[in-house]
Amino acid sequence: MIYLDSAATTFQKPDTVAQAMENALATMSSPGRGGHPAAMRAADTAFACREELAELFRLKNPEQVVFTSSATHGLNIAVKSMVREGDRVVVSGYEHNAVTRPLTALGARIAVAEVPLFDSAAVAEAFQRLITPDTAAVVCSHVSNVFGFIQPVEEIAAICRSRGVPFVIDASQSAGVLPLDMEALGAAFIAMPGHKGLYGPQGTGVLLCGDGAETRTLLEGGTGSLSIQQEMPDFLPDRLEAGTHNMPGIAGLLAGVRYVRQRGLRDICLRERQLALLAAEGLRTLPGLRVFALPGLRDQAGVLSILPENREVETVGEALADRGIAVRTGLHCAPLAHRSAGTLDTGTVRLSFSDFNTPEEVYRLLAVMEEILR
Ligand code: ALA
Repeated sequence: MIYLDSAATTFQKPDTVAQAMENALATMSSPGRGGHPAAMRAADTAFACREELAELFRLKNPEQVVFTSSATHGLNIAVKSMVREGDRVVVSGYEHNAVTRPLTALGARIAVAEVPLFDSAAVAEAFQRLITPDTAAVVCSHVSNVFGFIQPVEEIAAICRSRGVPFVIDASQSAGVLPLDMEALGAAFIAMPGHKGLYGPQGTGVLLCGDGAETRTLLEGGTGSLSIQQEMPDFLPDRLEAGTHNMPGIAGLLAGVRYVRQRGLRDICLRERQLALLAAEGLRTLPGLRVFALPGLRDQAGVLSILPENREVETVGEALADRGIAVRTGLHCAPLAHRSAGTLDTGTVRLSFSDFNTPEEVYRLLAVMEEILR
């Protein structure tokens, strides 16, 4: 199989990830639940994972790294910590349902910084205009899961800091690919999955909590700390980590993060963008296909949407699957992004790359697409 669906989940992982998970199952129990060797091995692994993540995302305190089950879980904690019914929240035009559905459930007043695709300057201007003093929070995806559009989170963070508004970044597509500096951004929260660009397993995620960020619990329960007390501890990470940890997942995530740090974000990003560019340039030569990319893939990561003019996107996705190429079609859980780009009625076919894809796979994709469209 040629796997081009890494924006959903990276499927090819470094070998060390499965090895670490197997080792965790064989040797670890639960962190903070005892002083015996199995518990201590779990505690050391969990702390090592927090430390690696804190270094990668430039947090001084590894205890501000909270393990979640997914980016969605982290985004729910972030949003529900800050937003109440009727609050004004400003979001980008490229948010995922993981942001917009919790905000809708809360009854927030959502202002959308809706701008054309790949227009970073317009994004910054829209946030400048929309962030009013009564804004409870700003939420922005760093990279669109549908179009790979890299949004200017550094500029948005500066606007938020100057207006004293908490900023939440959805780093679902950028974690492990683009640099993010929590200290410099001064974000309240950055949420990310473990199972995409960090090459961990499904069921893992991370919520980075900014200095002094106010947190509300989604779950209450055992933490292994302050057990006599009936309120959740007020310190991180315990406050947000009720219940037994997913140790095989965390051990796998640690191996994935170590792989990313050894490879380096620059090289990973370069590889994914080169592959996406190769695909975009080749696909552009095929008739009857719209390719969503600017020349040189400006402001775009290794995620590429295409739209066949005379075929349903699902039909093309199925034809690709029949020929051994895995992609995702439709709305990608991000109707807002499709509305902003004008593809809400059709959806798109999305190709998304990882560090494990090759140019040969792109050449095969181009040959197969030509055959399908013929
Ligand atoms: N948000 C993930 C995707 O884009 C699941 O496919």
